[in-house]
Amino acid sequence: FRVNWDLATAEKAGYDHFMLKEIYEQPKAYRDTLEGRLFPRYPWTYLPELSLTPERLKQFRNVHLVACGTAYHAGLVGKMAIERWARLPAEADVASEYRYRSPLASPETLVIVVSQSGETADTLAALREAKRRGAHTLAVTNVVGSTAAREADDVLFTRAGPEISVASTKAYTTQLLVLYVLALHLARVRGTLPDAEIEPVVRALGELPEQAESVLQQAGEIRGYAQEIASREHLFFLGRGLDFAVALEGSLKLKEISYIHSEAYAAGELKHGTLALIEEGTPIVALATQPELMSKTASNVREAMARGADVLGIVGAGSPSLSERQLTLPDTHPALMPAIAVVPLQLFAYYAAVARGYDVDKPRNLAKSVTVE
Ligand code: G6P
Repeated sequence: FRVNWDLATAEKAGYDHFMLKEIYEQPKAYRDTLEGRLFPRYPWTYLPELSLTPERLKQFRNVHLVACGTAYHAGLVGKMAIERWARLPAEADVASEYRYRSPLASPETLVIVVSQSGETADTLAALREAKRRGAHTLAVTNVVGSTAAREADDVLFTRAGPEISVASTKAYTTQLLVLYVLALHLARVRGTLPDAEIEPVVRALGELPEQAESVLQQAGEIRGYAQEIASREHLFFLGRGLDFAVALEGSLKLKEISYIHSEAYAAGELKHGTLALIEEGTPIVALATQPELMSKTASNVREAMARGADVLGIVGAGSPSLSERQLTLPDTHPALMPAIAVVPLQLFAYYAAVARGYDVDKPRNLAKSVTVE
């Protein structure tokens, strides 16, 4: 009697692919990432691993977030949270550009490198460039003992657990969570956000694991849409503000594993040229999760629909209708929407790739960690 058994199948714990398993691990990963880092009352945040004193935190004049690929997209969300809450000028840049543009990093700059592996060559080079300029460096990484964790002045671990799939999912969302907590921490120490505004964010962060869970329950619908568009060769993702950052990540996921060409567009920019590419049946995934931007995005989506676009809308609870076909996300603080809005996009990329018959966990020409510049 023999049992057919192999290690990879066992590790997938019943899921067809690591990517799907890792998507479904997100609610737990969120809990692990936030564990012990938030309080329901003042001082709200607790990051004892940081060497930075409150005095030092108050000295920073600007923040640079530097990363590659998916981690860069997390950096874009981090930039917006830090600017909005801590009122510090923040820039996000891809690591391979950062080091060649003579960045304005000084001892008054906090340089945050974001890297799942902590080993990406471009990111490490940027980290060293930042140190050379005297900046204070902080690594946000998933891997304890990684080069970034060792070389940066400070480190915050994302606690996502091992990520095997080349396409990053839970590493990205836990990076978002760490950057949110860090942004709140900076805001609290610097006195830029009143307690009355911190409280709802802290509360909403604590609810994210359950909300991610409820988004996962909509997987059937997303799968249906992914199967419908699987034979298409081009697709657009639209969004404004934070939704644009999520659109970039959704587009990257889809390209990485399904090889469908897609572009993420800031919704308001579409009319400045690219509208010409929208024709009868062009699929568009439109994100409109930010109440104050809803009406503007809706008008951009209408422009596209008038040219025949086939739109899947992704909106927040209580939003007016964006398109005939839409997914409604659970209600959370608008600033935190990326942490749940990206989940359907991960599933969408996954099911599109499966429908096209590709090896989801090992996309062609891509590596989990790129250690050459
Ligand atoms: C590679 C991977 C991407 C990843 C990027 C950055 O290109 O294929 O999925 O986002 O590296 O990796 P890091 O480990 O630095 O987050």
